[in-house]
Amino acid sequence: MTIRIDELSGAGGKRPTRALVLHPDIRGADNARAPEGALAEGMALARALPGIEVIDGLVVRLPRAHPGHLFGSGKVEELKARIEAEEIELVLVDGPVTPVQQRNLEREWSVKLLDRTGLILEIFADRARTREGVLQVELAALSYQRTRLVRAWTHLERQRGGLGFVGGPGETQIEADRRAIDTQMVRLKRQLEKVARTRELHRAARRKVPFPVVALVGYTNAGKSTLFNRMTGATVLAKDMLFATLDPTMRAVELPGGLEVILSDTVGFISDLPTQLVAAFRATLEEVLEADLIVHVRDIAHPETEAQAQDVETILTELGVAETVPKIEVWNKADLLTPDDALMTVAARRDGVFAASALTGAGLEAVFSAITTALDDERQGAVLELAYDQGRARAWLFAEGLVQSEDPGEAGSELTVHWTARQRRRFEALLGDGAEGSDAAGDGEADDDSGADPAGDDHPA
Ligand code: GTP
Repeated sequence: MTIRIDELSGAGGKRPTRALVLHPDIRGADNARAPEGALAEGMALARALPGIEVIDGLVVRLPRAHPGHLFGSGKVEELKARIEAEEIELVLVDGPVTPVQQRNLEREWSVKLLDRTGLILEIFADRARTREGVLQVELAALSYQRTRLVRAWTHLERQRGGLGFVGGPGETQIEADRRAIDTQMVRLKRQLEKVARTRELHRAARRKVPFPVVALVGYTNAGKSTLFNRMTGATVLAKDMLFATLDPTMRAVELPGGLEVILSDTVGFISDLPTQLVAAFRATLEEVLEADLIVHVRDIAHPETEAQAQDVETILTELGVAETVPKIEVWNKADLLTPDDALMTVAARRDGVFAASALTGAGLEAVFSAITTALDDERQGAVLELAYDQGRARAWLFAEGLVQSEDPGEAGSELTVHWTARQRRRFEALLGDGAEGSDAAGDGEADDDSGADPAGDDHPA
């Protein structure tokens, strides 16, 4: 659905597309980060796309955004010379670009231009692995394109026979395109609802595995997949690329102390996620909402490690997990710091923080035992009284492996359980659902407190 980058480079897309990354630094805008750091992230984003060769990246300082061309006319000329000299075919602007600016700059420079949202959409489309991920990305792409119908829309142009429009489509055509998009969006939403139902079945199957869930979260490129691989011996993509994992990957792992957990790798966070992409991103983070423990992996050698950690915390708070789920921090890539680095001292002093290297394995023992301890601390004992007609609820407790002992009485039985807060909430939700008489308890279908409803109606449309 999105414009394929490899189509840009002409004949079969064999030669990589030569790309230039521009980071507009608009004076007075609320820029929390240094523009050079932001540019570096923009370039890393660009490199995450296959078929692209990033030739260079520039910070372009601007007193203000010009409505017609984004950049001032002098800048446009200067960049044009550079684009021609370097045979640039694709310009990636690390920020928002209006449809008009996009069209004007594409004409002026004879290139294809993508803004930040377009770029991230391309990456999401490339990385989406599950059916739901693919649908979410398509939906986000459509809602993005719908707002940009001022210019001809590549694939519709092709459907119209590739007449080689000089200008954009006429108003009637835009209306027709818009209707076509709306129809397509309705269809996608219906498919998503179906997928969400199937996913609920998968979740139910997973709930029968009575292991606590440990979710690895963190800023993109922090080393989550590397840590995941080290812990599981599994082969998950681990490259110097953003978003090596769009959809969560889960494995059951036995930690050195013997505790068995389900480890979940998640998609990396990035700053300023475009609004159209929030639903797609959330769908990939659903496992975090079900986690018993969050392991926040940080690239401690990154110059903006603090700002990155803040971004992650903000999103976790927005997702509603910050307060309910316990968390530890792994300060990863410690191998890149000297042992006397101030950060190492801070890590050693701070509770719940562990300096480590997923690459060399240094410091991971402490991480494993911290996970074990955190999960043990999390578990609490409780005594439940269940009437005999609550057989399904009882069966659920046994299936989850939570029951320590059972004491049968006159009207029912008394069960001593040992569970985490998440397991308790799920049980309560199950009872609240009127477990008996429905199929809620037997297969764990009771919806829990995950709050994730990516197939709901709250998509950006
Ligand atoms: P996303 O999928 O983009 O969110 O990235 P991620 O957090 O899963 O990062 P990934 O594991 O793919 O690692 C990113 C890069 O950092 C890779 O080149 C790794 O080899 C490197 N890396 C990971 N851990 C370490 C570490 O402890 N030390 C060093 N020096 N490099 C590391």
